[in-house]
Amino acid sequence: MTPEVESEVPKGYVDKLFDMRGRVAVVTGGGSGLGAAISVGFAQAGARVVVADINDDGATHTVKVIESEGGDASAIHLDVVNSAEVEAAANNVFRDFGSVDVLVNSAGSAFRSPAEEFPEDKFDFILKLNLKGTYLCCQSFGRKMLAQGKGSIINMASIGSFVAYPWSSAYLASKGGVLQVTRGLALEWRDRGVRVNGIGPTLMESPLTRRGAERSSVTADFITARMLRPRLGRARDLIGAAIFLASDASALVTGHILMCDDGYLVA
Ligand SMILES: NC(=O)c1ccc[n+]([C@@H]2O[C@H](COP(=O)([O-])OP(=O)(O)OC[C@H]3O[C@@H](n4cnc5c(N)ncnc54)[C@H](O)[C@@H]3O)[C@@H](O)[C@H]2O)c1
Repeated sequence: MTPEVESEVPKGYVDKLFDMRGRVAVVTGGGSGLGAAISVGFAQAGARVVVADINDDGATHTVKVIESEGGDASAIHLDVVNSAEVEAAANNVFRDFGSVDVLVNSAGSAFRSPAEEFPEDKFDFILKLNLKGTYLCCQSFGRKMLAQGKGSIINMASIGSFVAYPWSSAYLASKGGVLQVTRGLALEWRDRGVRVNGIGPTLMESPLTRRGAERSSVTADFITARMLRPRLGRARDLIGAAIFLASDASALVTGHILMCDDGYLVA
């Protein structure tokens, strides 16, 4: 009798590891920047992508890009801070596609201000969008995933989940919260087939970064001065990490923030 070898790898195993064919992936904030690139990347990996954004023109543009490459995508209007809208979106996607396999929470924003002058309404806005919006989407789409016994959620964290930089106190609070929400949900759902992870980008080239720089260079100057090499990440640099966390390649990975920071936190 041949003993079972635990290290045995079935033929063609690796081909299937990163395969997203037929998977239904919802990307909030998919109408711009990092979420748009991840949407396109998922579609290139074979996923059926639902681009969910408050900005309908942006979402439609991402869908057009995907369709022009022969991919499968549709746009939905979604305000991630509106719990009724989020719940309806989860129900509709589940009804229309029969499954929700992947959720990427990329809807988010930032506001630059010295802490002593930080406007209360901006603090509330950033916390609500980045933290509560992420949480609401995890809840509603997570419930569907728990019901089907499988799913992968990817939250957009940041180097700011771990280290500080100036004029960003609300953003830092929100991304620290995203880190702990990711861990908390991963713990609660780890024996029910739903994995919850995050991606932690460095400062990236994106419309959000450009808008921040228009307001002040204080934050970006501080971060770039501490980079190992002074270059911003490109949105497409996150696609590999996103496909890894979304696919069976990361079957044992949950509660983890995969840093895509060019070594920022190492130094
Ligand atoms: N750009 C960076 O340097 C960087 C670095 C680390 C983490 N992040 C995070 O990545 C995520 C995406 O950032 P980005 O640079 O692509 O920003 P972006 O501004 O280019 O895109 C954000 C998208 O979110 C959408 N959005 C905003 N409010 C929404 C709402 N209430 N409901 C639904 N959609 C909404 C916007 O319409 C936009 O399409 C954010 O969470 C951000 O904090 C960005």
